[in-house]
Amino acid sequence: MAQMGITNVRLAEFAWALLEPQEGSFDFSWLQRCIKLLNEHGIAVIIGTPSAAPPPWLTQKYPEVLMVNDHGQTLNPGARRFTCPTNRTYRRLSARVATEMARAFASTPGVIGWQIDNEFTLGESPRCYCRFCREGFQHWLRERYGTLPPLNKAWGTVFWSQTYTDFAQIPVPLPSGAPVNPGLALDYDRYQSHANVTFLDEQLTILRQLCPTHFVTTNNVGVVDTINLRDLYRKLDFFSADNYPGFISIVMNGSDSGTSLGSDAVAPIVSFTHDAARSVKDGQPFLVMEEQVGKSGQPFFSPQPEPGQIRLWTFQAIAHGAMGVNYFRWDTADFGAEEYWHGLLNHDRSHSPAFDEVQRTIRELKSLGSEVLNARYSAELALCFDPVSDWALAIQPGQPKLKYLSELLTWYGSITASHAGVDIVDATQDLSPYKILFAPVMYVVSQEQADKIRDFVRRGGTFIAGFRLGVKDEHSRIVDTPLPGLLRDVMGVTVLDYQPIYSEKQGVRFSKSLAGKDAECHLWADILDPGQAEVLATYTGNPYAGKAAITSHSFGGGKAIYLGAHLDSADLARVSLTLIATAGVKGALEVPAGIEVTRRRTDHGTITFVLNHTNAPQSFQIAGTSKELLTGSTRSGTVSLEPYGVCVLQSV
Ligand code: GAL
Ligand code: ZN
Repeated sequence: MAQMGITNVRLAEFAWALLEPQEGSFDFSWLQRCIKLLNEHGIAVIIGTPSAAPPPWLTQKYPEVLMVNDHGQTLNPGARRFTCPTNRTYRRLSARVATEMARAFASTPGVIGWQIDNEFTLGESPRCYCRFCREGFQHWLRERYGTLPPLNKAWGTVFWSQTYTDFAQIPVPLPSGAPVNPGLALDYDRYQSHANVTFLDEQLTILRQLCPTHFVTTNNVGVVDTINLRDLYRKLDFFSADNYPGFISIVMNGSDSGTSLGSDAVAPIVSFTHDAARSVKDGQPFLVMEEQVGKSGQPFFSPQPEPGQIRLWTFQAIAHGAMGVNYFRWDTADFGAEEYWHGLLNHDRSHSPAFDEVQRTIRELKSLGSEVLNARYSAELALCFDPVSDWALAIQPGQPKLKYLSELLTWYGSITASHAGVDIVDATQDLSPYKILFAPVMYVVSQEQADKIRDFVRRGGTFIAGFRLGVKDEHSRIVDTPLPGLLRDVMGVTVLDYQPIYSEKQGVRFSKSLAGKDAECHLWADILDPGQAEVLATYTGNPYAGKAAITSHSFGGGKAIYLGAHLDSADLARVSLTLIATAGVKGALEVPAGIEVTRRRTDHGTITFVLNHTNAPQSFQIAGTSKELLTGSTRSGTVSLEPYGVCVLQSV
């Protein structure tokens, strides 16, 4: 590892059975030995607390810690991530092993920080519905509502005789005779997010107290959507991201489809997860805790990354604001559920096909230096990812194919081609750094979000919203004013009707600044009464032929654009890029398709990352002269990139 240039490793994140072989008896000697050896070779250590994998002695003695899934079935032990986040015994035992570890390693040379648990909620069953969660939920509701009348009113429990007269009557949203109350279901999602956050907080408090000089983080992919990640990371030092492009490529079409997505399709998804990761801590640099280095998979294995791809993925993370990258994993296990999750050493301990490439990449990363690795990402665009809208839409999608995250990804893909940089926001923060805010299916709009958005547009921003805007309030009640509810004044339109689309034909005809060929409209159409707004597209299908589908409204110093029609990705991309250009936003560089450009800013200027996601050579033009930081060479005029090539430019 030292020869390879590795500067830190993460250890022990699933090692509970080794750390506490029997209840209350701890053995850290093996870990101490490892840390000492690593430290002697100049390699620092991040220790993982092991709560994601409780050992068999624990579940044998305390079977009540097991999670109950959304069908009411108790999960089995035997894998990982099978416990209830609320259960007091599980919390107590998780906190105890963390306490003992923190005491043992607080001043061990070489230990620099902690990863709490591992990938919260990323398992077969992301939420728990057990009796402890039910009690926890009731308790949380008592705190939130105080008494029952406001709760009954907010949820509308008079419907189907659900009026609660005692908090203890309130159920969890397990299958009943018909769909459960949407207000209850949405609050339950909030509660489960809260339960995971407070579970993490217990370990965090211990680590802060006992290890004041260490950083504390937890790892996740950028788009876990069952927890409010801003809440989860609020008190942590930085976001840690796990990145498996090859795994994404084989699961996006369905895990058993036997097909994979091409690198051109995977690249924007990966970029989205990095942008989301960076945005969780409002732009602060993040660490990639796990980066794919070989074939990855449990029952199915992703293809071996092609030469250059691991280097490209590494720089893609850096290009989106990472401060460092750790690879998963060093050796490949000869046993266990992840024996085919390939590391840098093969099963026989020979070098993996990617070994030399990773060694070169580590050298190059170090040559960039800490100023570049900690530079701020530059974004002129913001995309709203609102967990409450996500949860509420999952409870009641309206059309079964309407999925919040896939809408978000399609919108991201359509705007990222502008190369203007995208931050992921929840629209409760300061929006003034951005020229355009995009908000697909913002189904729930809170008063706070509406005020922030109104202010943003009034001061000259462009707000581009998708259909189903502002339909519900925070309790998941439908607003009792014409849609789009709280944002009607800003959008300048009224929704006349909304149309879930199945096999009926609906289409869109563009005009004025959006003029182009007609598009098909699938899944959803909001039919708009444009009022004073300018109509940029109309519907072609009956009974709404000729009615407004896309409108643009001047409000204060800015513009509010309503995309009432669901558009396929190519049409959405054309529309978005036109609107971005109209708003005066220019990308960093003009580059061919398949090339990505991002910027980070240091005190000494702008660093431009150019990434070739295709396996063919590519070239582009730059103005003036730049230094290419990975080679130290000077570039001007035409710059060429090898297949999966990367260049990092600083103008001189
Ligand atoms: C991550 C996880 C690791 C390992 C890896 C490969 O999601 O944190 O523990 O499981 O994926 O599956
Ligand atoms: Zn539970």
